[in-house]
Amino acid sequence: MKKITTIAALAGLSFNLLGAPVMASEPQAVYEFYCAQCHGLTGKGDGPNVTKDFPVSPRNFVDAAEMNKLSNADIKNVVLDGGPSAGKSPMMPPWGKTLTEEEVDGLVEYLRVLCACEGKQG
Ligand code: HEC
Repeated sequence: MKKITTIAALAGLSFNLLGAPVMASEPQAVYEFYCAQCHGLTGKGDGPNVTKDFPVSPRNFVDAAEMNKLSNADIKNVVLDGGPSAGKSPMMPPWGKTLTEEEVDGLVEYLRVLCACEGKQG
């Protein structure tokens, strides 16, 4: 039940200040709907779903030093195929069946806004 309320609350955030629904494919809305429950609304890895039982904390997207270790292609791959595809925790789910490639490209750009970093080139 808690999870459902959280998702509903997060979905509520995809309405802008004028109360008009934002385009579902808008990167920030996609992020808030699918990623913020673990990675946090502001990207600090402190979303409401994260409990002490998490074996590993979700990546803090605001940490430019860490985010600079990843290229845009690295991010795209781990988002599409999940943590284990990059030798990371299965707590990071694969999104390739849920999100379109355009949405994932948008998320990569959005994460670069959150970290204010360019990432590893190549
Ligand atoms: C169920 C919780 C959860 C959700 C939802 C989630 N993540 Fe994660 N994510 C994690 C965890 C935990 C890690 C850390 C994995 C590790 O370090 O082993 C992670 C790591 C990452 C990483 C870093 C991988 C690396 O190589 O360091 C990226 C990028 C990422 N997530 C993007 C996303 C995006 C984009 C979304 C939304 C589409 C998302 N995550 C949704 C839990 C989640």
